[in-house]
Amino acid sequence: MAFIVIATANAHKVQEYRELIQDNRVELKSLLDYPAFPGVEENGSSFKENASIKALAACKYCDVPAFADDSGLEVMALNGEPGIYSARYAPTSEERIAKLLKNMEGVTDRRARFVCVIAIAVNGEVIDTFEGEIRGTIGFEPKGTNGFGYDPVFIPEGETRTFAELSSEEKNRISHRANAFKKAAEFVEDQMNCLNEDF
Ligand code: IMP
Repeated sequence: MAFIVIATANAHKVQEYRELIQDNRVELKSLLDYPAFPGVEENGSSFKENASIKALAACKYCDVPAFADDSGLEVMALNGEPGIYSARYAPTSEERIAKLLKNMEGVTDRRARFVCVIAIAVNGEVIDTFEGEIRGTIGFEPKGTNGFGYDPVFIPEGETRTFAELSSEEKNRISHRANAFKKAAEFVEDQMNCLNEDF
């Protein structure tokens, strides 16, 4: 059994990864299992830098392979805001959504995308990063109760429902997180095949 730690204490993210990692050779832990983890300052200037900072910190602290995702919402008409500041845009999810909708009052171009970058760290080093996205639009009012964060106002391309109105299976088939995860999982699979060939 291989252990891997996801560098987050966000229970929603942990749950989405548990559903994505359908592999009984892997046991997923998270920072919820390491309550004394001192935390880390996300002071990078990109999703990639922040994902790398978090993965490295967790890998060093927990002394096992770790991965982190840094993700957020980029709104075209707001020049990519809230972007890497998505989690810090306002104190609570409700206030973040309210602020976003207020900033988009009168805006007809509602295009947006969710971005997720996954960084993998092993033996105190970031070995690679993987980016996924999902394009869509911002609705005019929150709808739905599933998911988390900006899900109630994000309508993925080709859908009429928000992420928060989709089931977790539906979201996990198309989300930015699922798309980044597919790339990361292929990379890990290839690495494991190379290791097996060496023996
Ligand atoms: P992080 O934990 O620093 O990566 O912050 C990501 C923030 O972006 C979250 O707190 C949410 O506000 C937002 N976000 C990222 N992924 C999603 C998603 O799948 N649904 C809704 N909001 C998301």
